Amino acid sequence: MAQTSTPTLLLLNGPNLGMLGTREPEIYGSVTLPVVVERVRERAATHGWRLLELQTNHEGAAIDRLEERDFDALIVNPGAWTHYSYALRDALASLAVPIVEVHISAVDEREDFRRVNVVRDVCTHLIAGRGTDGYLDAVDLVCS
Ligand code: DQA
Repeated sequence: MAQTSTPTLLLLNGPNLGMLGTREPEIYGSVTLPVVVERVRERAATHGWRLLELQTNHEGAAIDRLEERDFDALIVNPGAWTHYSYALRDALASLAVPIVEVHISAVDEREDFRRVNVVRDVCTHLIAGRGTDGYLDAVDLVCS
């Protein structure tokens, strides 16, 4: 059987992002995560990429997923882990693929604790404050 050469994008969303659409819609908007995922899938496909995705509220599950190493680029919204998870930071630092960190909200313009970012310098790009369209910008950045 012929080998496929389709590159693979992993979309990883961390804690509470499964509640998009109903969670603080004035901050995160009214689009649900399944809709975001399908938009990302479609955008990735326009660049010839296939999408794998996971949303988890469990740090260990996120790190286990990253250890599978079955993707060529990563889009990650670490949610609140952004601000304190050295375990996630170490997992991201160990990857050898491009990583786009996405935040729906403008994290640097919110509470002081959100200005602390322990993953920023191990990610290749950062997109914040573009709403859920930021995920699509991330696809364009990393898949083209
Ligand atoms: C977020 C910002 C984080 O501070 C917050 O904990 C989230 C979502 C964002 O997408 O804007 O869960 O990552």
